[in-house]
Amino acid sequence: MKILVTGGAGYIGSHTVVELLSSGHDVLVLDNFCNSSPCVLERVEQLHASQKPGVARLQWVEGDVRDRELLDRLFAEHSFDGVIHFAGLKVVGESIERPLKYYEHNVGGSIILCQAMEAAGVFNLVFSSTAAVYGTPERLPVCESHPCGETNNPYARSKLMVEHLLTDLARSDERWCVALLRYFNPTGAHASGMIGEEPRGVPTNLMPYISQVAAGRRECVSVFGGDYPTPDGSGVRDYIHVVDLALGHLAALKWMQENRGVGIWNLGTGRGYSVLEMIKAFEAVSGKAVPYQIVERRSGDVAECWAAPSKAEAELNWRAERGLDEMMADTWRWQSMNPRGYAE
Ligand SMILES: NC(=O)c1ccc[n+]([C@@H]2O[C@H](COP(=O)([O-])OP(=O)(O)OC[C@H]3O[C@@H](n4cnc5c(N)ncnc54)[C@H](O)[C@@H]3O)[C@@H](O)[C@H]2O)c1
Repeated sequence: MKILVTGGAGYIGSHTVVELLSSGHDVLVLDNFCNSSPCVLERVEQLHASQKPGVARLQWVEGDVRDRELLDRLFAEHSFDGVIHFAGLKVVGESIERPLKYYEHNVGGSIILCQAMEAAGVFNLVFSSTAAVYGTPERLPVCESHPCGETNNPYARSKLMVEHLLTDLARSDERWCVALLRYFNPTGAHASGMIGEEPRGVPTNLMPYISQVAAGRRECVSVFGGDYPTPDGSGVRDYIHVVDLALGHLAALKWMQENRGVGIWNLGTGRGYSVLEMIKAFEAVSGKAVPYQIVERRSGDVAECWAAPSKAEAELNWRAERGLDEMMADTWRWQSMNPRGYAE
C-alpha cells in the first residue's frame, strides 16, 4: 500500500514508518517539524537500509497538515491507499494555557485533511486518539464502551472532537473507513537505539524524564502526587512499548482492507504500573540511580488508568508483546547512544 503519514517524523510516527517500510509499504511523510526534525527521517532511512533494503520507499515533504493547497497537490501527485494521521500537538499543560492553538492544530488540521481526502477520493484513515478521551475512569480496566466526554483538558477534548467528527463522516458516507486508536502511554524506543523519543525542552512524559535524569542531564524526577488512592500513592498508567503501538497501526490498516465504517480500539497492555515502580524498574535495568522527589499533583492527571486490550486482540489480531524490562532497556539504549537526542 502507499500510505500518507502525517506527523511521521514524531515519536510514534517514526516508529510506525519503520514498521510500514519493513512490511513493504511505501510511505510519504508530511511533517512541519514543529516537534521533530528531518534528522529523524534520515535515521529511519538508515535503519530501513540496514534492516531490509527492500523495495519500499520513504519520501517526505516539509509542510503543515492545515495547508489545503499542499495537501491537494500531494493527493494529486500520489495515489494513496490510506492516511495515518499523527500530526498534532500533545502537551496537556500547554493545551490548558493555549486552547485555541490546540483546537486549531488538532481539530482544524483534521478537518482540512479530511476535506482533502474526500476531494481526492481517499477514504481510509487511521487516527491517533488517546486514552485521555475517557477522562477519569469510572471503572478499570477501561474498555472501549466506557463513557467519554468528561475529559480533563483541551488536548483530550480536541481528540474526542475529532473522534466525533470522523464518526459523523463515516455515518454520512459509507466509503469512509476510520480506525480510532486510543493509545495508552507509549514508551521505549526502537531496539536499534537509532530512533526514540526526543521531547523539546523539559520532557512532560515520564520515561524521557527518567532517562535524562539517569544520564545526568537533569537532577531529579518530580513525581506529581504521592497521595493518590493507589498502592504506593503515585499515579498508575498502562505503559506500552512504542514498537507494539506502531504495529497496532499496521493491524488497523489490514482491518481496513476488509471492513468499512468506524472501528475503535484501545492500544494498551492491560497492565498498570505506578510512577515509583517505573523508576525502580528503570534503575534495575540501567544500573543507574534515579533520584526523585514527590511534588504536588499535576492538574488534569487521573490517579490510575489502564486498558482492557481484548477488543484489539479479537478484532485486529494484535496485542502488545513487549514487557516492562524491554521498554526500560530500549529507552536506556536510545538515551545512552544519543545523549543529546538527534543533535549528535
Ligand atoms: N505520545 C503520547 O503519549 C501520545 C498518547 C496518546 C496520543 N498521542 C497522539 O499521537 C500522535 C503522535 O504523538 P507523538 O508522541 O509521536 O508526538 P510527536 O510530537 O512526537 O509527533 C507529532 C508530529 O507531528 C508534527 N506536527 C504537529 N503539528 C503538525 C501540523 N500541523 N502539520 C504537520 N505536522 C505537524 C510534529 O512536528 C511531530 O513530528 C499525536 O497526535 C498525539 O496527540 C500521543
